[in-house]
Amino acid sequence: MSDNWPAELLADGRSLRDVGGGVRSALPSSDAGAPYDRTAAAYDRLVRSRLYNRAVWSTSPEAYVAFAADAIGSSDGPLLDVGCGTALFTAALYRASRRRIALVDRSQGMLARAAQRIGGRFGAAGPALLQADLFGLPFRPGSFDTVTCHGVLHLMDDVPAVLRALREQAAPGAGLFASSLVGESSRGRAWLRMLHKAGEVVAPRSAAEVVALARAEWGERVEVRRDGCMLFLTARA
Ligand SMILES: C[S@@+](CC[C@H](N)C(=O)[O-])C[C@H]1O[C@@H](n2cnc3c(N)ncnc32)[C@H](O)[C@@H]1O
Repeated sequence: MSDNWPAELLADGRSLRDVGGGVRSALPSSDAGAPYDRTAAAYDRLVRSRLYNRAVWSTSPEAYVAFAADAIGSSDGPLLDVGCGTALFTAALYRASRRRIALVDRSQGMLARAAQRIGGRFGAAGPALLQADLFGLPFRPGSFDTVTCHGVLHLMDDVPAVLRALREQAAPGAGLFASSLVGESSRGRAWLRMLHKAGEVVAPRSAAEVVALARAEWGERVEVRRDGCMLFLTARA
């Protein structure tokens, strides 16, 4: 295992600076973070709730963990998790994995909580926590054997641009994994509309719409699974 992880994968002209708490940033020092900085603790409390996931989205934290486990188990090489948040559903898996893992989020607040949750295994041997924007990732294209993006697409206006940014990071044959909330029940649609009005997510999309966007960017062989209002997409680069 290299002791220069993940700096060895940086594109020319990109660098990382230490911002404390086990987090490094690829953002310019003038760019402090993102809206989720203020809401990391509240986000964690709500999203981990079994009742909330069942009642609102007709799914469960176990479904999220199972999808993340599929991604981690899909290969041995470097893994990139884009929009990792607080690593609520992934921390235990990442702690246990021997893969080289880069967790990226725009929000320093979310990353700080992810760092606490994952614990002290940073640096050469452990997951790297990096503040970066998914539309300006600091790595050379094709650097990762697995690229994951859990629960982010429903925040994004331009899903094709997100899917392209993820695919660009994937080595040939690498696994691509993305999940998204979709409006596949009347209650789920109502909540997505309410969250949209509050500025938290974009207007609800159906599963068919998201699948069509994914197949246009990642190819017709995108595999699709859905549990309630959570859609799980898998493909090979
Ligand atoms: C709904 S949370 C999902 C977090 C985590 N993946 C999970 O499943 O619990 C979305 C995350 O995407 C991050 N995010 C939003 N826009 C981003 C961007 N442009 N670049 C990187 N991260 C972004 C937010 O900061 C937030 O942590």
